[in-house]
Amino acid sequence: MNTDWSTYVQGVGTLHLSRSLRFADIFRDKYREAFAIKKPGSILEIGCGTGALAKALHRWYPGAAITAMDRDTAFIEFARKQAPEITFQEADAARPPYADHTFDVTISNTVAEHIPPQAFFGEQYRVLRPGGVCIVLSARRGISVPAPCVAKESDFEKEIWQRVEDRCAEMEKKVGVCQYPMNEREYPLCMEKYGFRNVSTEYITINLTPDDPVYSPDMGRAMINAEHQTRLDAINSLKAIAPDLVSHEERVEMRRLINQKYNRRMALYDAGIKQWDTSVSVTMVMRGTK
Ligand SMILES: C[S@@+](CC[C@H](N)C(=O)[O-])C[C@H]1O[C@@H](n2cnc3c(N)ncnc32)[C@H](O)[C@@H]1O
Repeated sequence: MNTDWSTYVQGVGTLHLSRSLRFADIFRDKYREAFAIKKPGSILEIGCGTGALAKALHRWYPGAAITAMDRDTAFIEFARKQAPEITFQEADAARPPYADHTFDVTISNTVAEHIPPQAFFGEQYRVLRPGGVCIVLSARRGISVPAPCVAKESDFEKEIWQRVEDRCAEMEKKVGVCQYPMNEREYPLCMEKYGFRNVSTEYITINLTPDDPVYSPDMGRAMINAEHQTRLDAINSLKAIAPDLVSHEERVEMRRLINQKYNRRMALYDAGIKQWDTSVSVTMVMRGTK
């Protein structure tokens, strides 16, 4: 049983809602083009979290056998309930429990930076069939401009975040967050170092702007809800991360303030009063052949 990531880094709700948006069908063609998967027979996702990418792959490549693994028990339990048609397994990506030459495709999203490169790339190379494809998605610097009604922080809020800043960083280090970061030049070099051929790179931007009419009202509301849940999860995690630094009453008050702000944001959305707040993610997609 390992729930370090879901307890200290990103909660189930945060990952589920944010990634369901990022891998929504409206973006399918962008991803399919970048993945360029010709033979999707068997796909292994490394570090699948709550399963949003695995579920998207299941929709986008009907007939493919999808296995998805993660070290966090809470993520795997949640994902299994959501998508019983996918094989979700609790396992360590540094020692994946699969035989050599098993999969046609291995894929991951924002996982490479958390695992030693020798294990991350070396193990994917091992479990891929000859001619199989390794696809690595890595988040790059994006754009985030919040709506004024959620951006404004009181002195109380600022003080709480200041109080826990060092502790949060400490916990992330303990859980192994981002211990192996690489830039856009180092990643492809690293893939080649571990034996992959025909390495290529592509960049996908995903624009999440609730007020943009290209998105349905359901999707616009889901964007606001995802941000709302992310903020609430951050406060909820303080119970485990810093129980001595933030009291129960302070967490209750923080949650009240967050709910107030996002209820206001949602009311503006529902009234059609545009805010044009936006979150644009840039994802580097690397692809290499065994
Ligand atoms: C930033 S999250 C991304 C999750 C998922 N790929 C997504 O995009 O929603 C990183 C994930 O890697 C997983 N992870 C980190 N180290 C791992 C390891 N050694 N083995 C398996 N999973 C690992 C974490 O549990 C977490 O789910």
